[in-house]
Amino acid sequence: SPIMEQFDVTVVGGGPGGYVAAIKASQMGLKTACVEMRGSLGGTCLNVGCIPSKALLQSSHHFHDAKEHFADHGINIGDISMDLDKMQDAKSKSVDGLTGGIEYLFKKYGVEYYKGKGSLKGPNSVSVVKNEDGATEEIDTKNILIATGSEVTPLPPVPVDNDGQKIVDSTGALEIKKIPGKMAVIGGGVIGLEMGSVWSRLGAEVTVIEFLDKICPSMDQELTKKFQTTLKKQGFKFKLKTKVTKSEVEADGVVLTTEPSKGGDEKTEKYDIVLVATGRRPYTEGLGLEELGIQTDKLGRIEVDEHFRTAVPSIYAIGDCIDGPMLAHKAEEEGIAAVEIMAGFAGHVNYDAIPGVIYTYPEVASVGKTEEELKEAGIAYNKGNFPFSANSRARANGSSEGFVKVLAEKDTDRILGAHIIGPNAGEMISEAVIAIEYGASSEDLARTCHAHPTLSEAFKEACMDTYDKPIHF
Ligand code: FAD
Ligand code: NAI
Repeated sequence: SPIMEQFDVTVVGGGPGGYVAAIKASQMGLKTACVEMRGSLGGTCLNVGCIPSKALLQSSHHFHDAKEHFADHGINIGDISMDLDKMQDAKSKSVDGLTGGIEYLFKKYGVEYYKGKGSLKGPNSVSVVKNEDGATEEIDTKNILIATGSEVTPLPPVPVDNDGQKIVDSTGALEIKKIPGKMAVIGGGVIGLEMGSVWSRLGAEVTVIEFLDKICPSMDQELTKKFQTTLKKQGFKFKLKTKVTKSEVEADGVVLTTEPSKGGDEKTEKYDIVLVATGRRPYTEGLGLEELGIQTDKLGRIEVDEHFRTAVPSIYAIGDCIDGPMLAHKAEEEGIAAVEIMAGFAGHVNYDAIPGVIYTYPEVASVGKTEEELKEAGIAYNKGNFPFSANSRARANGSSEGFVKVLAEKDTDRILGAHIIGPNAGEMISEAVIAIEYGASSEDLARTCHAHPTLSEAFKEACMDTYDKPIHF
């Protein structure tokens, strides 16, 4: 075959980790290729994750608002109805616009885009089986960045068949064609509660079946409790400490057999549709890791050092396929740090300052340590709390459920964690992320002028409560 030019970096996977790394590498003057097999860029996040789920959350929120809350503002609209095709069109439009936008950015910054499945042939070689014609092309490259992401973890008693629309995973739940009467969600984590919210707002009776004794088990417990109460008020049903042992697909639904997690009496119940949302696992199928001596741990995550390097020095890995929270912004930060390291700079990710947001209504957002983690680590802390019911903007908006909780080190007043449930929590959490990144104290934030009337004043007052007293509560 003809001798080709060598690339400095070849990124395998075009998700938020991979495409961001590829753009950054090219911007730094590295000759960069990106291999993606999906047919469009943006990975799980843009195609079947973050973006389409948020589009459906927004549409269903508008519908629910119009139905339940417009009248409170004197807006009488009579009977309303939902056109699911139109809702799905709006979702597809936002996805297509964004994935196309990344292709444009690749052109703008000179990233070479290979459409096909990539595998590693050596420390400096990636082979691509092209989507177009199945032909193979070899890429000669100084460095390789693995950003192949994750896939749904199967739950053996409940096999997913997205096309059948009876037992679906998150991808199938984004494509539901008819509002279900009864929907079971297996797994009370982020996907279950977000996608459950979409269909609950549109009229489905949603039952969450969770193995543990609480939803979102790793979150701050005060937040989780409030979150569950709020969802219950919205009509969610919860079966905690429960496992699913069997599923039977029938013409008009699915019969699930459950029993207590610890074992005990079986129960059966029929649902129109079942969503399996019990977690995701790294996707590294057919990459050729073993042949190169690159290890994965028992959860299938690629092992890397603190510089994202695998056992082969020219091969790096980032994002959902390595350790850490499976979040798009975490993958992006790692992608940038990894290519900076390849270029000889000091790339770094601060894992204490990675926010997590659940885009339900109200939103739930966290960063840093939970109260449980501080207790376990034996760190003395001060705690501040401020309810949105005492925030003037939340009251004027007619949406004042929830609170802001701030945790700061007792000796230094340095902010170690913040946990918010309330309107716009996902935007507000950035303030706490910056505070943690800069080592700010709760007093620093409390003495920072916040515009009035805004929801973010609740964050300021929670900080006032952390080191002294709030004014409005
Ligand atoms: P991915 O996005 O999974 O991208 C990997 C890409 O690599 C894929 O496109 C795949 O086709 C490609 N690939 C794999 N192997 C090969 C190969 N051998 N050759 C070529 N290409 C290959 N995170 C958030 O932060 N916020 C959210 O709101 C959010 N919502 C979500 C909602 C849902 C329903 C789901 C499922 C996930 C959500 N996530 C969210 C998680 C987020 O999508 C992931 O954390 C993120 O996409 C990880 O990025 P990544 O680049 O590591 O991997
Ligand atoms: P998850 O890990 O968030 O939640 C899974 C839940 O299922 C846990 O509560 C777990 O205890 C429970 N569970 C596990 N096995 C079970 C079983 N057999 N029966 C009943 N319950 C069981 O996983 P999820 O929701 O599938 O999401 C996957 C990933 O996608 C997450 O890691 C998350 O980071 C990411 N994501 C992020 C979003 C966001 O940032 N807003 C939105 C959606 C997904």
